Amino acid sequence: MFAFNAPNVTEIAPDVYRFGLYAPGSDLQFNFFLVRDDQPLLFTTGFRATFPALREAVARVIDPSRIRWVGFSHFESDECGALNLWLEAAPHAEPVCSFVGAAINVNDFANRPPKAMADGEVLATGRYRFRFCSTAQIPHGWDAGLLFEETQRTLLCSDLFHQAGDVEPLTESDLSDRVRAALSRMQGGPLANYIPYNARTGVILGQLADLKPKTLAIMHGSSFTGDGERALRDLAAVMGEQLGDPTSCGSPSR
Ligand SMILES: [Fe+2]
Ligand SMILES: [Fe+2]
Repeated sequence: MFAFNAPNVTEIAPDVYRFGLYAPGSDLQFNFFLVRDDQPLLFTTGFRATFPALREAVARVIDPSRIRWVGFSHFESDECGALNLWLEAAPHAEPVCSFVGAAINVNDFANRPPKAMADGEVLATGRYRFRFCSTAQIPHGWDAGLLFEETQRTLLCSDLFHQAGDVEPLTESDLSDRVRAALSRMQGGPLANYIPYNARTGVILGQLADLKPKTLAIMHGSSFTGDGERALRDLAAVMGEQLGDPTSCGSPSR
């Protein structure tokens, strides 16, 4: 298991809080997001092992027992490993995930049934409205999806825009070089090919770009504020360059 530094808390957009945990051993941040509203929404739960630290960090913003929705992109330990611990800590909380995620994993895994979202379905939490975007296999997993908060145009990106290092919580700078370096590093190591690249990849990233997000809330690396449409189109280009040629895909066995 990773060792983590103490979390830092940054409000990256009004009512959107980023809880940043850095794992020095893997030179990677794990960042989790809370949107403060009448019905607070936590996006990604962290690992079971990071639950105490993350709960303490959330408590700097709201009473954790008030969390109403616990969302995530896909079934993976950093995304939803601590889901049941959050459901215990917040007695009115419900998981929120894709229809596929509910059907294949969460209906069985979670201690309370999830709200299964269809593509385009909206979850209103008070002042804010989260549109569910089905993004199967992006960043990875059949069950993958993302939430887009329409009022402030915040896209909760999960693993998209993955960057290495203990970087700043929020940037306005172009992320392409950092993302290119992170993808290249991953392709050269034992965790290669963690993002499948196929004919749908560019289409889905184009649909996300069409949402014209203003803030990109990023799980691994700095979040971004600025022209999110441009950033997503640039991401599609970098992913095509790094992942689009099957003959150059990294393989630890070669
Ligand atoms: Fe992931
Ligand atoms: Fe992740």
